[in-house]
Amino acid sequence: MASKIPFHIPYLSGDESTHVQKVISSNKIGTGGYFSQACEEFLQEYTSSKKVLLTSSCTHALEMSAMLLNIQEGDEVIMPSYNFVSAANAFVLRGAKIVFVDVDPISMNVDPESISSAITSKTKAVLIMHYGGFACDMEKIMPIIKANKLFLIEDAAHCIGSTYKGKHLGTYGHLSTLSFHYTKNIHCGEGGALMINDDSLVDRAEIIREKGTNRKQFFDGKIDKYTWVDIGSSYLMSELSAAFLWGQLNQVDFVTKNRRDIYQKYDFILKKEGIRVPSLSSGDIFSNAHTLFLKSKSQGHRKLTISNLKQQGIGSSFHYIPLHLSPSGNKFGRFHGKDKNTTKESNKLLRLPIYPDLKTNDIKIITDTLLKIILDYEVLQN
Ligand SMILES: Cc1ncc(COP(=O)(O)O)c(C=O)c1O
Repeated sequence: MASKIPFHIPYLSGDESTHVQKVISSNKIGTGGYFSQACEEFLQEYTSSKKVLLTSSCTHALEMSAMLLNIQEGDEVIMPSYNFVSAANAFVLRGAKIVFVDVDPISMNVDPESISSAITSKTKAVLIMHYGGFACDMEKIMPIIKANKLFLIEDAAHCIGSTYKGKHLGTYGHLSTLSFHYTKNIHCGEGGALMINDDSLVDRAEIIREKGTNRKQFFDGKIDKYTWVDIGSSYLMSELSAAFLWGQLNQVDFVTKNRRDIYQKYDFILKKEGIRVPSLSSGDIFSNAHTLFLKSKSQGHRKLTISNLKQQGIGSSFHYIPLHLSPSGNKFGRFHGKDKNTTKESNKLLRLPIYPDLKTNDIKIITDTLLKIILDYEVLQN
């Protein structure tokens, strides 16, 4: 049966086609045109990042990070195992060993103490991922990074619009990455960005993004021909994608507010039944409500809930399978310390629909159905 309420509907502002059409009519269909520049400037100003470079995906921004930090064979990179595969792959491609660590059982963000205890003389960098648009505990993480003189990469794929202590996520690390994949709050189908907060990395980042050539300097009129000067690949976002993205970026605050309203409606209903979801604004955290997740009592109960919701035409989903449990995670990495929470909690995690097209009545249908499933099977953990 087709879902009455799909798990995800990509946001559309309605302005995208006008901008894309402008690019087509202008004949300047390549890269680095008006819309690419406008998006980069917007993101820089909006987040207060020193430099933002649009990329073809967040995956590619992560790969650029590994190249920029000169990650090489023998280096260790610490990251949570509850993570998207691209974070690990980017560093494995440079020959690094991945040291997976545990997460906090409530937020599913990296456990700062696990980072501390995983550091060795080989550790070069730490990658953190702000899960679902909720900030990691930066107050605990930053001193660890500084004391050990490590590089910090923030995977902020979920995070446009989210802040910690009023500072945008993605501005804490030396390098950070955003995703504009169609499942994200703001998107262009496939796309991403590299946020560079360390000035000394900017020039080389432009080279790596341009296949390892100094073509950017050539286009800027600084040299009379361009040549191969470093490693790199084809990481530029196309101007057509940037035009689409421009139609969305202007709406980022509207989308954030809209999603937060929806999240709060869910929260209001679920709280009355004793079901907790992470708070959107607690302490130093301001979340963009990218993800709404609950915990089932067990993996089996989660499966039952997903299939029962599906029978009623409602999409829902689990999320990452811990990387250290995968064949490649096992080959290219190791889990440091005890896996107290990663496997147990990720097995129970259940995501519900959240997107601007979701109507108040849809939320009622979803929560009524979920509450009935809970009553019938007692499947949720409170
Ligand atoms: C945390 C995280 N990082 C990175 C990525 C990769 O993003 P992209 O699809 O833009 O390459 C994803 C994809 O969903 C993700 O969830």
